Amino acid sequence: MTFTFTVLLCLGLTLDLRTPVLAGKLPKPVLRVQPDSVVSKYTEVTFLCEGTTGVTKYSLYKDGHSYTRATQFLLESGKKAEFRISYINENHAGRYRCYYYVTYYERSEPSNTLELVVTGAFTKPSLSAQPSPEVTSGGNVTLQCVSEQPYGRFILIKQGPQKLSWRRDSQYNHSIQNYQALFPVGPVNSSQRWIFRCYRYDNYRPQLWSDPSEALELLVSGNLHKPIIKAEPGSVMAPGTSLTIWCQGTLGAEIYVLHKVGSQEPQDTQNPEEPGSKAKFSIPSVRREHAGQYRCYCYSKAGWSERSDTLELVVTGIHYNKPSLSARPSPVVTSGGNMTLQCASWNRYDKFILTREDQQLPSSLDTQHIPWTSQYQALFSMEHMTPNHTGTFRCYGYYKDTPQLWSEPSEPLEIHISGLSKKPSLLTQQGYILHPGRSLKLQCSSDISYDRFALYKVGEADLTQHCSQRTQAGLFLANFTRDYVSRDMGGQYRCYGAHNLSSEWSASSDPLDILITGYLHVTPSLSVKPNSTVLSGENVILLCQSMYSVDTFILSKEGSAHPPMRLKSKSQEYQWHAEFSMTAVTYTDTGTYRCYGSQDSAPYLLSEASAPVELTVSDSENQDHTTGNFIRIGLAVIVLIVLGILVFEAWDSQSWTHHAA
Ligand SMILES: *[C@@H]1O[C@H](CO)[C@@H](O)[C@H](O)[C@H]1NC(C)=O
Ligand SMILES: *[C@@H]1O[C@H](CO)[C@@H](O)[C@H](O)[C@H]1NC(C)=O
Ligand SMILES: *[C@@H]1O[C@H](CO)[C@@H](O)[C@H](O)[C@H]1NC(C)=O
Ligand SMILES: *[C@@H]1O[C@H](CO)[C@@H](O)[C@H](O)[C@H]1NC(C)=O
Ligand SMILES: *[C@@H]1O[C@H](CO)[C@@H](O)[C@H](O)[C@H]1NC(C)=O
Ligand SMILES: *[C@@H]1O[C@H](CO)[C@@H](O)[C@H](O)[C@H]1NC(C)=O
Ligand SMILES: *[C@@H]1O[C@H](CO)[C@@H](O)[C@H](O)[C@H]1NC(C)=O
Ligand SMILES: *[C@@H]1O[C@H](CO)[C@@H](O)[C@H](O)[C@H]1NC(C)=O
Repeated sequence: MTFTFTVLLCLGLTLDLRTPVLAGKLPKPVLRVQPDSVVSKYTEVTFLCEGTTGVTKYSLYKDGHSYTRATQFLLESGKKAEFRISYINENHAGRYRCYYYVTYYERSEPSNTLELVVTGAFTKPSLSAQPSPEVTSGGNVTLQCVSEQPYGRFILIKQGPQKLSWRRDSQYNHSIQNYQALFPVGPVNSSQRWIFRCYRYDNYRPQLWSDPSEALELLVSGNLHKPIIKAEPGSVMAPGTSLTIWCQGTLGAEIYVLHKVGSQEPQDTQNPEEPGSKAKFSIPSVRREHAGQYRCYCYSKAGWSERSDTLELVVTGIHYNKPSLSARPSPVVTSGGNMTLQCASWNRYDKFILTREDQQLPSSLDTQHIPWTSQYQALFSMEHMTPNHTGTFRCYGYYKDTPQLWSEPSEPLEIHISGLSKKPSLLTQQGYILHPGRSLKLQCSSDISYDRFALYKVGEADLTQHCSQRTQAGLFLANFTRDYVSRDMGGQYRCYGAHNLSSEWSASSDPLDILITGYLHVTPSLSVKPNSTVLSGENVILLCQSMYSVDTFILSKEGSAHPPMRLKSKSQEYQWHAEFSMTAVTYTDTGTYRCYGSQDSAPYLLSEASAPVELTVSDSENQDHTTGNFIRIGLAVIVLIVLGILVFEAWDSQSWTHHAA
């Protein structure tokens, strides 16, 4: 007996061999435990047994045996006793009761039973809400507690002032190959917070639990004023940039929760900023994982408010193949006209999305394969364009499964509207045909006081803008100079004027074609029929010929203010030619002519120049026009005088005859 006694003593337990029989008359004590009846290992726990005044002894029983290892203190002259256990371990888990003694043999009724649960016996289970922790007021949700440890049971605890708990046996879930219990919860109301943890335990030691799962809070969408969610500087962000999400609710809010749709844990929980009614959620460096849909929830003493609208956070630059964006027919459209923006890529994105700076709602379209190419595109058509539609556009590609992960942006494209105000004139000072390496100066001018002029080369994405200058003659103009002409400057140019405060450009100037020579390594020959010296009024043919294939011949006259002439080539016996006919030539057609060839694939890039041909148009008497006319008038005057003399002579001779009669 002594042996058994010692062993049990070592465990902190002892059988009470002198259990008195005088029970039942004294009222039962109350047993409580601090800090909680569920504690983790190594914490200090204090049992408080409260009897009545004048008590000389208390005793604590664990699982039916007197427990003597706890340090006992009598308080308030015996009214209660404290039993302190400094380091809780798994052996302390169990069912406790206490008694008190008024005399050595007279013992009270047993107190209430108190279960002391010790946690940390197993690894923590995981707790999740199915389908999601987002619930509307009045809705139901299923909480799933999952553990790797086989069999056993799970307990779910709702935290807060009114603690609730549910227990369930564990079941094997084949799809996740783990043990689980499902707890239906609801209907959920919006007047309180719903925070849960779950534990796992075994039936044979029901007071020995696992570590707690992470806390799971249900996010309840109630009926109170809906908070406003917004992202600064915007919701389309490049990786590495910093972002702030603001949630603005009502005054008196206690907490704000930012939730990412599809996740179990809240993205972030914040107290409101002082003063005010909004919370700030910072993302110092945006990463791919941040892309998604966000909503914020707000809880105040009055309960949960309605959840905010959904904010889509897009992370760009995820796919490196950036698409190209271009405007058809041109990035300058006349007011009221239509325009198509083409977004294209070699990469097979599912969708393209078009964004405009400062615009909230981008539009997206499915991609289409461009026939006969390996490119994909989407065409965004814009009708009845007004100055409101102008701005800087970009497009991105993405895949359907990850709609918030976009490609790098296309180069920005600026869209302009040209209106009805008077067109400026566009002039060249170097002629229409230029040699590479020369300089080019295009001048856009108007008698309207435009503040800016813009030069646009057809087919390009950008306009070049310059401030206008006023000349002494009262004209407004801007010079667009290029020091070194290269072949990519060949093309059609237009210019526009604009006033500072308007986003609308003037009507377009007449187009001006700039042609660059020396691109085709071909030198055509130019000849003149019937003769390089002709009389005015005659017909002349300038014949341009080439031994190599060209699609078009161009004839230019040195120093002429008129654009050069173009003619389709005709082929005959491996010779390509075009005949430029000039009917009824005049003196002004005199000059030096050259011809060039070009191909349709690059109509602004020309061959070398032919050898020059001098055309001389002269009058029939080898005199110039003005003298000719002067002589004609002179001759007419002389004829009239002669006629006059003849008439006078006739009358005079008649009168003489009369006298004679
Ligand atoms: C939630 O469950 C209760 C019964 O448990 C049911 O009366 C109620 O209609 C359910 N609510 C919803 C939104 O399904
Ligand atoms: C098993 O777990 C998965 C994932 O949580 C869940 O979707 C499914 O409903 C569970 N199956 C059962 C039978 O509970
Ligand atoms: C909300 O639900 C809890 C738990 O079911 C309940 O105790 C409480 O009374 C409910 N509150 C309201 C306002 O319905
Ligand atoms: C623009 O498109 C609309 C609808 O397709 C058409 O009715 C209208 O005539 C077009 N306007 C111009 C200027 O082409
Ligand atoms: C377009 O701009 C005009 C002013 O130019 C403005 O009155 C109008 O409200 C704008 N329309 C839209 C849809 O923004
Ligand atoms: C533009 O070019 C013309 C001719 O070369 C010159 O007279 C004028 O001063 C220039 N104007 C400006 C603003 O550069
Ligand atoms: C127009 O804007 C330009 C550049 O912002 C400025 O230099 C110029 O003085 C402005 N013109 C007028 C008339 O306000
Ligand atoms: C062209 O005209 C000049 C003078 O009239 C004459 O000398 C020359 O022979 C002519 N040439 C041809 C090819 O007809």
